[in-house]
Amino acid sequence: MKNKERIAILTGGGDCPGINAVIRAVGKKAIIEKGMEIIGIEDGYHGLVNNRYRKLIYEDLSGILTLGGTILGTSKIANPYRYAVKKRGKLEFQDLSKKAIENIKKLGVACLVCIGGDGTLWIAHSLYKDGVPIVGVPKTIDNDLRGTDVTFGFDSAVRIATEGIDRLHTTAQSHHRVMIVEVMGHHAGWIALHSGIAGGGDIILIPEIPYDIRCIVEKVKERNKKGKRFSIVVVAEGAKPKGGDIVIQRIVKESSDPIRLGGIGFVLGEQIEKMTGIQARTVVLGHLQRGGSPTAFDRVLATSLGTKAVDMIVNKKFGYMVGVDGRKLVEVSLEKVAKGARTVPLNHPLIRSARSVGTYFGD
Ligand code: F6P
Repeated sequence: MKNKERIAILTGGGDCPGINAVIRAVGKKAIIEKGMEIIGIEDGYHGLVNNRYRKLIYEDLSGILTLGGTILGTSKIANPYRYAVKKRGKLEFQDLSKKAIENIKKLGVACLVCIGGDGTLWIAHSLYKDGVPIVGVPKTIDNDLRGTDVTFGFDSAVRIATEGIDRLHTTAQSHHRVMIVEVMGHHAGWIALHSGIAGGGDIILIPEIPYDIRCIVEKVKERNKKGKRFSIVVVAEGAKPKGGDIVIQRIVKESSDPIRLGGIGFVLGEQIEKMTGIQARTVVLGHLQRGGSPTAFDRVLATSLGTKAVDMIVNKKFGYMVGVDGRKLVEVSLEKVAKGARTVPLNHPLIRSARSVGTYFGD
């Protein structure tokens, strides 16, 4: 009897709603239509380096469509090409890519499906260049991947942030305060832009448009004069003042991308309160935006991306990621994806629309 063809699935980087829906889509289609065997690599690239994996049967893939997080575990730190190892209490980085590649070869898989954002897919591209057959699936709440109009997880994060803004609106109105909502978005302001528009934010601050605090203060004062005795500021964690810098919360030494942001909301809150005399409060939504069940949109997107990834495996379209272009699914080379973050273009129609309804970007 012929051995079943095997594929492996790995989830890397920050988790987000919809990862399990992709695992389910890839696995179910591969089992039902192609009679394949599925291997789940545990904890992202940690599992690849340390040979940790488990077989996923149909039952493992059932009942996970709506489940947040990833059943396989993930890591934002593990990078086979720069793997953090502690030796006599000291941190050092080793290139363990050969070991990772040997492990995947030993598994005898026809393809490794890498579900991840820019970091994960950058590593996937390197593994592909080193001979591993890879298909990528775009995942990140930040929506900042090149080669796709949208990533799954983004819609869910925007929904969570919008709900947060809606709730803060009523308390801002009651107390005549400035409420600052800090959302995720390291290099790109997609979450702030979308949730800011959806939640009717008065001021939206994104990394792509450095702000001037004096102009923000003027805007708040002007609203007050007009009888709007509250203001909502939606700020991306990566926003910065003109000529100034981002606010770093911590450095994760083991990570290839060690900077973790957070705190710009508190800086702004203090400045606005001091300069306007109006009370300000800050809420940092943080990892809430990555948790819980995916929206209907993300479930549908995850299912489309996952099933398309199986077609790409069958057609041996390795070194490519499934992306979205308008309403179509497209195949995008990982080389293109690995070229850095997709930021919000300054002439983006949504920025124009927001400005047209009086939303201020701090510039
Ligand atoms: O990459 C997704 C992301 O959510 C960023 O927006 C955020 O800066 C970062 O992850 C937070 O990372 P961690 O999980 O290490 O705190």
